[in-house]
Amino acid sequence: MQEKISKIVNMFNIDGIPVEIQKNNSGIINNTYKVTFKQDDGTLKDYLLQKINSSVFTEPYKLMKNIEGVTNYLKKKLIANNDTKHKVLEIIKTKDNQSLCVTLSDSGSVEYYRMYEYINNAISYDRSTDTSIVFHTGKAFGNFQKNLSDYPMDKLDETIKDFHDTGKRFQNLMRDIKIDPKNRAIEVAKEIVFVLKREEICSTIMSKIWSKDLPLRVTHNDTKVNNVMINKDNADYLAVIDLDTVMPGSMLFDYGDGIRSTSSHSSEDSTNLDEVYLDLELFKSYTDGYLSEMAPYLTNNELSLMGESIRIITLELAIRFLSDYINGDTYFKIDYEKHNLDRARNQIKLVEDIESKLDFINQYINQSYTKYLEK
Ligand SMILES: Nc1ncnc2c1ncn2[C@@H]1O[C@H](COP(=O)(O)OP(=O)(O)O)[C@@H](O)[C@H]1O
Ligand SMILES: [Mg+2]
Repeated sequence: MQEKISKIVNMFNIDGIPVEIQKNNSGIINNTYKVTFKQDDGTLKDYLLQKINSSVFTEPYKLMKNIEGVTNYLKKKLIANNDTKHKVLEIIKTKDNQSLCVTLSDSGSVEYYRMYEYINNAISYDRSTDTSIVFHTGKAFGNFQKNLSDYPMDKLDETIKDFHDTGKRFQNLMRDIKIDPKNRAIEVAKEIVFVLKREEICSTIMSKIWSKDLPLRVTHNDTKVNNVMINKDNADYLAVIDLDTVMPGSMLFDYGDGIRSTSSHSSEDSTNLDEVYLDLELFKSYTDGYLSEMAPYLTNNELSLMGESIRIITLELAIRFLSDYINGDTYFKIDYEKHNLDRARNQIKLVEDIESKLDFINQYINQSYTKYLEK
């Protein structure tokens, strides 16, 4: 394995020789390695090698084109803003000037590798209950969207079709219930009823995108705390990473999913449902961080749907886990038989809790918006 990785590493345009390759196990989608090079002057320099998960990302070239366009644009923005505190992912090309290195696996399938500069002196947390880290995570994604607010959208491809089309996710669930390949639908009747009662909200965001009442923006689509590198010295964010799902979309996808994933009191598959709820301190921190960057750029329609987007995106995840359970667990990795069912129940509990807090959530968003707009 290591020999194969060394061969791939040598295809990239890097001075010196690779002296160490370490696997990084924190991501769950791509295979990630830290590669250390001894440079010609004897000093060591790290890089990040990733094998793209091509069953999730079926169009790696389009994906890299999106990343190249967005990172080049962000780099120019940092320079124009005199921002020396933050960084942008930097692609290292192959010796023949490509952004992807293509090889064949032992079984003959095509594999795609890419290399980035390594972001030093930073850490990515898989979960955090530290309000400062959650604030800076919201700020990082807010800054990302702010700096891309005038990005030419025709340069961006939709690499995963209908990713946040919650209405389509709902229709797919209805289809899966009808087919019911594993005879599991009867077991989840209660959960299905929960979703059915909320059919109407599934089309809220997409219908407003289609009618142009919501603008298309560059969205990250994976706004988790571990996709932000936090500066080890001062807990500020250093860079937004994991740009594989950068696509055109609504800021509501990123904000809603950001709150869902950073501000739930428990992990996504916790089965102790009494402990699954929206932690309002974390919600406030992420919202403040996000709005401290994005407040002046938001339209009234975007602002008015921010609270609701948390509920919608959480429901979307509940639908996806439920569909996957009914289908026999073909998409999300499972560690035990009812893992996806537990995840669906967890997200349903979170939706219920968000609904009970929606008045407060909306009030807080408006208050925070006003505060940052005036600053
Ligand atoms: N350029 C980088 N420099 C340093 N560490 C990185 C860099 N990119 C990713 N990482 C680390 O590798 C982990 C996995 O990378 P990521 O791109 O998020 O892959 P995945 O899609 O599998 O989540 C991140 O959580 C982070 O800890
Ligand atoms: Mg990641």
